Amino acid sequence: MAYDELTVAVLGPGGTGGLLAALLSRAGHRVVCLAGEETADTLRTAGIRVHSERFGDFTARVEADTTLREPVDVCVVAVKHTSLDAALDRVPPAVLGDGLVVPLLNGVEHPATLRTRYRPDRVAPAVIRVESTRVAPGVIEHGSPFAEVDLTGDGVPRERLDALAEALTAAGPTTRVLPDESAVLWAKMSFLAPFALLTTRHGLPLGDVRTKYREELTALVEETAEVSAACGGPADPGGALARYDGFPPAMKSSMQRDAEAGRPLELDAIGGALLRAAERHGVAVPVTARLVRELRDAGH
Ligand SMILES: NC(=O)c1ccc[n+]([C@@H]2O[C@H](COP(=O)([O-])OP(=O)(O)OC[C@H]3O[C@@H](n4cnc5c(N)ncnc54)[C@H](OP(=O)(O)O)[C@@H]3O)[C@@H](O)[C@H]2O)c1
Repeated sequence: MAYDELTVAVLGPGGTGGLLAALLSRAGHRVVCLAGEETADTLRTAGIRVHSERFGDFTARVEADTTLREPVDVCVVAVKHTSLDAALDRVPPAVLGDGLVVPLLNGVEHPATLRTRYRPDRVAPAVIRVESTRVAPGVIEHGSPFAEVDLTGDGVPRERLDALAEALTAAGPTTRVLPDESAVLWAKMSFLAPFALLTTRHGLPLGDVRTKYREELTALVEETAEVSAACGGPADPGGALARYDGFPPAMKSSMQRDAEAGRPLELDAIGGALLRAAERHGVAVPVTARLVRELRDAGH
């Protein structure tokens, strides 16, 4: 699988998926976006328009369909957790065959779900650091000056991961291959969960949360670090707090933006998964449990 010869399906060509689809297509790969009828029609006729300070403004042609009809080298899964089950019906395991399944979703539980459907040794989870928004079908605003991917996958042949990482890096987002899937997923979770839960619960940007709700933030960071450590992930609460302190005060989490827009939240995939892992390992997480309960009580 040479990096200039990939056929890549992208399930859910939104903020993250649409950006990667467009970048890979621009770099010369064959890209097939899998989406609902209307989005697929739009993409087939108009391509994907990207606005990005980092990668430029450009339009990329892509193929688009409502279901996968032939094997591909890689299927990037870039839907939100809330639509994962329905979306996966578009990727029949028998059609995908030997292709890698590369989920970009935040959270820690989806790789196991994917491994019940697809070859376990072809599921290669990735963590993406980016801020990218689907402002309309096929129109992507990449707002962050960064776009980085950590690719992992216990049991996945290393050369398959390396080939994809090479292709992604050449196309735009700097991509590393890292061992230890649990550590990679929990590193992202440890940073994301406190930030997402608190900004959404209080409806305030990070700058206000880290000053007005410092105690809650510190408790959440410590609880999450303990759960992460119990799950084989990193535990660096001081480092997480220092990172929050270094971000612009106006920064919002994507969960908070979803709440503001009235969209379903990835609350179960982040807060729910954290509570389930804590329970499994006997870690007390009273502040996390209260915040998740309050968010659920608020109808999320
Ligand atoms: N956006 C970011 O900056 C960012 C950064 C890091 C991590 N993440 C994570 O990445 C994951 C994806 O987030 P996102 O922001 O890229 O989501 P998004 O912008 O909402 O895009 C999701 C895409 O999935 C499509 N979709 C929904 N249901 C579908 C179905 N049944 N079949 C096929 N396609 C379907 C939507 O189609 P339509 O276009 O037709 O609505 C949309 O294009 C999440 O877990 C998120 O937490 C996102």
